[in-house]
Amino acid sequence: MGLFPSISKIMRKGKGLFLLLLCLCVVAWIATFSNDDTVKSVQEGSNPLDDRSVEGFAQLELESEMMQSLEEQQSVRKSCPEHSPLLRGAIKLSFDPSLTIEQVESDNGEVVEGQYNPSDCEARQSVAILIPHRNREKHLLYLLHHLHPFLQRQQLHYAIYIIHQAGDATFNRAKLLNVGYLEALKDQSWDCFIFHDADLVPENDHNLYMCEDQPKHLVVGRNSTGYKLRYKGYFGGVSAMTKEQFHKVNGFPNSYWGWGGEDDDLRIRVTLQKMSIIRPSLEVARYTMVFHNRDSGNQINEERMHLLRRTHQAWKTDGLNSCSYKILSVHRAPLFINITTDIGQPEIAL
Ligand SMILES: *[C@@H]1O[C@H](CO)[C@@H](O)[C@H](O)[C@H]1NC(C)=O
Ligand SMILES: *[C@@H]1O[C@H](CO)[C@@H](O)[C@H](O)[C@H]1NC(C)=O
Repeated sequence: MGLFPSISKIMRKGKGLFLLLLCLCVVAWIATFSNDDTVKSVQEGSNPLDDRSVEGFAQLELESEMMQSLEEQQSVRKSCPEHSPLLRGAIKLSFDPSLTIEQVESDNGEVVEGQYNPSDCEARQSVAILIPHRNREKHLLYLLHHLHPFLQRQQLHYAIYIIHQAGDATFNRAKLLNVGYLEALKDQSWDCFIFHDADLVPENDHNLYMCEDQPKHLVVGRNSTGYKLRYKGYFGGVSAMTKEQFHKVNGFPNSYWGWGGEDDDLRIRVTLQKMSIIRPSLEVARYTMVFHNRDSGNQINEERMHLLRRTHQAWKTDGLNSCSYKILSVHRAPLFINITTDIGQPEIAL
């Protein structure tokens, strides 16, 4: 009497087990013949039991994939912490003459076409680094070598733009930065712009490449000036402004050809808009200037004092709203976006 129910229980269990085994067999069998015509013949096959097992398994796989991507989305939506746990503080910089671009590329495998986005959290800001450039290939390599890991440790979504001045006109840092700003915004609506000289390498990753409610100057000290601010009000080398702040001051002037003055002009624009310049502490805002002689094609701008006296009027008509240029090429290299532009020639008469 008591025997009958327990036998039927075993029978029921056995049936379940048998079905499971059958499923597993079918799956294993399909796996051995994957991408083979046999799979097709199974899917179109005449055995209805086999068909259902395959469907059931596919359904299960689909569900687990959906769960996974849901989990991934949730973790991406989580904002990166206010203080990145990856920061290391002051680091010893190296400038190895045998360094190659291939080496820097292989060290930064997660950077795609000059751009990086943290995979495990949502970056607090999207930052475009703009580097005006001409004829300093080795400096650029040293900078890329240090800057990419530096920015990744800060958990930023960022891209590095090199704005390359074509032709043999005198260098115009300010206009190249205007071009970089306008062109980078065609890629996406960056929150923050870092205007960065190619020969300055940051020494401490607590010097955050992020924007704040006021324009920020990042080069408080550098080895070439004994780690002191070059002069009161200095706003050159590396500075950070939001898209809105830079737009509000009408960007940089376009009329400064050669070395000097354009950074002071930007400071005047900032103060005219009743903004003030903030700086991180000297302990973190330190840079190494990779040694170089003044480049040919970047002579001291003798007009700069004259130009600075006009800024309080000229800012309205000389800036982003009057920046005319031609794009000759946009090349998306693995570690940077190389924008080559023709920005014309200085006007002769002033
Ligand atoms: C700053 O450091 C760099 C790298 O070590 C070096 O090439 C350069 O000569 C230094 N500049 C000065 C003024 O000490
Ligand atoms: C950027 O592109 C221009 C034009 O093709 C080229 O001359 C220049 O060397 C490139 N710059 C870098 C840093 O690759």
